[in-house]
Amino acid sequence: MPCPPQSDQLVFFVNGRKVKCPLWHLFLDHPLPVRLTGTKYACGRGGCGACTVMVSKNDPVFKKIRHFSVTACLVPICSLYGAAVTTVEGIGSIKTRLHPVQERIAKSHGTQCGFCTPGMVMSMYTLLRNHPQPSEEQLMEALGGKSDTEKVHHPRGQMGTVFLAAPHPAQHRPSPPQAPASVICTKLFAKEEFQPLDPTQELVFPPELLRMAENPEKRTLTFYGERVTWISPGTLKDLLELKVKHPEAPLILGNTSLGPAMKSEGRFHPILLSPARISELTRVTETSEGLTIGAGCSLAQMKDVLAERISKLPEEKTQTYRALLKHLKSLAGPQIRNMASLGGHIISRHSYSDLNPILAVGSATLNLTSAEGTRQIPLNEYFLAGLASADLKPEEILESVHIPHSRKWEFVSAFRQAQCQQNALPHVNASMRVLFKEGTDSVEHLSIAYGGVGAATVSAHKRWDELMLDEACRLLLDEVSLPGSAPGGRVEFKRTLVVSFLFKFYLEVLQELKKLVKLVSDSRRHPDISDRFLSALEDFPVAIPQGVQTYQSVDPHQPPRDPVGRPIMHLSGLKHATGEAIFCDDIPVVDKELFMVLVTSSRAHAKIISIDFSEALKLPGVLDVVTAEDVPGTNGAEDDKLLAVDEVLCVGQVICAVVAETDVQAKRAVEMIKITYEDLEPAIFTIQDAVKHNSFLCPEKKLEQGNIEEAFEKVDQIVEGEVHVGGQEHFYMETQRVLVIPKTEDKELDIFVSTQDPAHVQKTVSSTLNIPINRITCHVKRVGGGFGGKVGRPAALGAIAAVGAIKTGRPIRLVLDREDDMLITGGRHPLFGKYKVGFMNSGRIKALDIECYINGGCTLDDSELVTEFLILKLENAYKIRNLRFRGRACMTNLPSNTAFRGFGFPQGTLVTESCITAVAAKCGLLPEKIREKNMYKTVDKTIYKQAFSPETLIRCWNECLDKSSFHSRRIQVEEFNKKNYWKKKGISIIPMKFSVGFAATSYHQAAALVHIYTDGSVLVTHGGNELGQGIHTKMLQVASRELKIPMSYMHICETSTATVPNTIATAASIGADVNGRAVQNACQILLKRLEPIIKKNPEGTWEDWVSLKVSLSSLRGYKAFMDWDRGEGDPFPYYVYGAACSEVEIDCLTGAHKKIRTDIVMDACCSLNPAIDIGQIEGSFIQGMGLYTTEELKYSPEGVLYSRSPDEYKIPTITDVPEEFNVSLLPSSQTPLTIYSSKGLGESGMFLGSSVFFAIADAVAAVRTERDIAENFIVQSPATPEWVRMACADRFTDMVWNYCLFS
Ligand SMILES: Cc1cc2nc3c(=O)[nH]c(=O)nc-3n(C[C@H](O)[C@H](O)[C@H](O)COP(=O)(O)OP(=O)(O)OC[C@H]3O[C@@H](n4cnc5c(N)ncnc54)[C@H](O)[C@@H]3O)c2cc1C
Ligand code: FES
Repeated sequence: MPCPPQSDQLVFFVNGRKVKCPLWHLFLDHPLPVRLTGTKYACGRGGCGACTVMVSKNDPVFKKIRHFSVTACLVPICSLYGAAVTTVEGIGSIKTRLHPVQERIAKSHGTQCGFCTPGMVMSMYTLLRNHPQPSEEQLMEALGGKSDTEKVHHPRGQMGTVFLAAPHPAQHRPSPPQAPASVICTKLFAKEEFQPLDPTQELVFPPELLRMAENPEKRTLTFYGERVTWISPGTLKDLLELKVKHPEAPLILGNTSLGPAMKSEGRFHPILLSPARISELTRVTETSEGLTIGAGCSLAQMKDVLAERISKLPEEKTQTYRALLKHLKSLAGPQIRNMASLGGHIISRHSYSDLNPILAVGSATLNLTSAEGTRQIPLNEYFLAGLASADLKPEEILESVHIPHSRKWEFVSAFRQAQCQQNALPHVNASMRVLFKEGTDSVEHLSIAYGGVGAATVSAHKRWDELMLDEACRLLLDEVSLPGSAPGGRVEFKRTLVVSFLFKFYLEVLQELKKLVKLVSDSRRHPDISDRFLSALEDFPVAIPQGVQTYQSVDPHQPPRDPVGRPIMHLSGLKHATGEAIFCDDIPVVDKELFMVLVTSSRAHAKIISIDFSEALKLPGVLDVVTAEDVPGTNGAEDDKLLAVDEVLCVGQVICAVVAETDVQAKRAVEMIKITYEDLEPAIFTIQDAVKHNSFLCPEKKLEQGNIEEAFEKVDQIVEGEVHVGGQEHFYMETQRVLVIPKTEDKELDIFVSTQDPAHVQKTVSSTLNIPINRITCHVKRVGGGFGGKVGRPAALGAIAAVGAIKTGRPIRLVLDREDDMLITGGRHPLFGKYKVGFMNSGRIKALDIECYINGGCTLDDSELVTEFLILKLENAYKIRNLRFRGRACMTNLPSNTAFRGFGFPQGTLVTESCITAVAAKCGLLPEKIREKNMYKTVDKTIYKQAFSPETLIRCWNECLDKSSFHSRRIQVEEFNKKNYWKKKGISIIPMKFSVGFAATSYHQAAALVHIYTDGSVLVTHGGNELGQGIHTKMLQVASRELKIPMSYMHICETSTATVPNTIATAASIGADVNGRAVQNACQILLKRLEPIIKKNPEGTWEDWVSLKVSLSSLRGYKAFMDWDRGEGDPFPYYVYGAACSEVEIDCLTGAHKKIRTDIVMDACCSLNPAIDIGQIEGSFIQGMGLYTTEELKYSPEGVLYSRSPDEYKIPTITDVPEEFNVSLLPSSQTPLTIYSSKGLGESGMFLGSSVFFAIADAVAAVRTERDIAENFIVQSPATPEWVRMACADRFTDMVWNYCLFS
């Protein structure tokens, strides 16, 4: 390879140290040139915030050092010239001193799996660098850029609120009245122990960089990479000359548009021009006409500039600025706003752009510069449409943007609607401006621009009244181009939003106009807007979630050193917060390591005609391509191959894998592999199609009791309905990854893998390689989230990597990109349910017949088991004498769906609960009354004839009613709804009976190995894997109680198949139960052996006694079985009971909702660790809320998953957490079967997220009742803004339906 020309020196600092960067391989593809494991790579597109670091630069706009957070995955190294980067390692460490942010997030139980914790820490840290006492708004803004699978829970809010300038009102709130104070606790950590924030302790901006900033280099700097050249001119003149020389070269500012396009769409630019050092581009000037903002200003800088001007200028002049500021607050997260430039935003002309429509209606002008001179063009619809006549010439650049002040009698507003409130691209946004003839309500000009659906400008010369509104709506529907096949679909919804926004604008302006017109003339022509309609105008505010967590404190007689039942911090909490916790991919590169990238099918159902990888093999660094022919043993199962042979069954099926020296080389090679296919029929994607084609993965599962047909004949009423529940992506923050290291002796392999089931990986690798299991050791240190997605899949990936390792004789690292992970690994099964329910007019249900179909994808995987669990759990908390439940798993040409937290329960039970609401609607009763009436009341038997007592279920229900003040709030909700037409509230309370464990004894076995060393230290090993659920913490709590020594004596190193063999998957909520028993058993045996020694020397210390030590392992478990032929069994060791009440408010015009409050009461019995258990309940609730409200998988008609990144797939962020979120563990509950009478709580909270769904449905029902629309509508989860908006039918939806009908 020829040596590139000599680069200039790239000067930047990381954590206070100057980095000497060898640029030859480090260009754009690598986030940072120093190996720092704290900065996590989870999506690579700036969408999740896991890689957040702080960048400090001299700010030419505000003339000071500016500290700002960025997502490292989008930061090109060359853009760091002159910058100081601070990563989580740079602010504190457990080895030296913790930073207060790190200490607080860990000690306030703000970490679970810990993979995204460093990102959270760095967002908070950056905020505090800029605002040591932040306001509530600043805190929410700083944390708003995080997607958080299970971890957005209250303690994190507390972590932030302890820094607030003014304490949040909730911090003053007295604890709710409870049982006696000695038993009930609401304190999970001691705030008073936290070290204070001392801003003087922070790293200073490196003096060398300060000098550089004061005396800027004017020379053009050039950095040569392997394929790309980065040119950074020091003057505008040089930049313009370079643009003449390289007209095709893009200007690179924030890289938030270019970067994702280069990564995902394979766009390649050999030359990049960086104008970052050109001061003209960051200049801000103001005249009496308006503001001119440099195109190089970041959106965050622009936001600050606008906020400052708005505070100084008269309101009439700042209409456009206010609209821009409003959208700048919700556009992406703070990291993206810190990076993205105004120029990049405008020039990218994304259809979803939030700012361009406002700039267009605000008559902004673009100041263009080239070597030829300057000129101005308007930012109008022609520019936005990319018309050559209205666009930049190749050699031109955008220097600045002039935004005129607004005038009196002019109004500007902006609207947007996205899947969730913050950090989500809009479905539709709009900006509107109206100018009135002075002193009148006569419209001089009305301009409207829409993002997401195309541009439109409407001029009108009418009065501002309903007639004008009606006409403008119709005109808009005609003008806004939105064909049926518009990208992203949702055509009716988007059209409805278009006119709904206009209505909002109409009302907004009407209100303002009335004030103005009143001043100058008679206002009789404008009657007051009724208060009921004013609610259309209010946006939902973003507030810091607050709440109280309640649990039963330990017995006052329990020795202080006994940690069981106490809120002990997660063992890795501090390491999570400092970035020192090592995940699979943090293992340093091993000698001769290679990288593997998978090649997947692009067809849903096809014959493979040929695979040609000859071109790929010619690329530098590429060593091999692994195919099915290389598998020495078994290539997976006959119907579920590891590597495809002859035929593919879905898009995303693994066909082969490239092995190369680096990941970049392997990815390039994947692009060069040519696979030819011949499509096969049929290609089935939906449940409906599968049923039509009789395409199923396994036989029907059925349970029946009573006489259903006879019962239907005797009931007062029968309702039939359908329920659709969408699938769900696991979205663990750490994607699937594995490192396979072949050893030189005896075919041994060491496998480091992110899995919930290392024994399964070991077994699969053994059969694939045809070597005995005893040669393979799987190690799991910790897993960055699993949720069921790392039960089965890691085995297949581990086996493919192992084939590569054996073939090449070298270690192989395989790390899935987020897009591949989402494409390949499948997720929760979508469900379609049909029900028929027979009931008396009193609401007593006499007969229920439910038929469910789940979409299993192309292979069996866990689909049969999921169907079984679904059927077993469908009855939830209700005793219905005559029942029939049937379930089938459909085979489709989608990636195979697999285990997911709750395992069918969250989908199936939504059908049952929907029956309840349907019955309530028919009987004219409230759903909670129907729930109460039909709930189990006394000791009884389930549909599968397992006896149980519902006492605790009823206690949870009653406590939840009580704690949430349900009945009085129900009245308040009704009152609110009477007073508001465009906003409605809904409230619901849902009971839960969740069965824990597997329906087979063999799955309830666990083993532990405990070593006591001569220095008294103890090494505990057990079969559970640390997924963030705190299992290792709980196991040490158990060992500490049993051995009667403090936890500080103990250690857990990892889970390994060499120390505890043949383990079961850490799943089904029983990890702590069964492994806890095994640890207890092992400790008890050891202690027994020590007894004679202790007797001899009762005054001795632990260290004295353990001079003779033993090691052992132990097996413990539950009995469980299910006889499907007889429809009965004892499939579950015990149940977890709970209830949740949620209240929401919906915006009927946009479909958005706000979560006002959630109260959960959960029966944890005697929690081993209330902090961890409450974290699990909150986390699973939030994940459930995501399932039922925002997470939506979208496929193309060819079966390609569209939603493959955090941009398109929205998991909840901190701004989605209910504003008030209270969790109580039910006191004084016992279960004799489990370790110390505790319960496994990993999964159950998931279903309680449905209380939000039913609260939304309740609000929608209120709308439909008020508007006299038939009460029955198809229940569809997730309850997205689209579903809510279209269900709230009104004159605007009618207008759109009519338009569709007649156009
Ligand atoms: C995670 C994420 C979330 C987002 N969410 C939103 C959202 O909610 N709403 C929204 O509207 N947008 C959103 N965006 C898009 C974002 O606003 C744009 O990507 C951004 O503004 C582009 O600016 P940049 O500086 O990063 O551009 P770059 O990527 O650096 O450049 C983009 C293009 O602009 C050209 N260019 C840049 N400056 C100039 C100039 N001065 N003269 C001529 N050409 C120039 C470049 O040649 C290049 O072609 C999001 C982006 C990400 C990554
Ligand atoms: S990895 Fe950078 S934002 Fe997700």
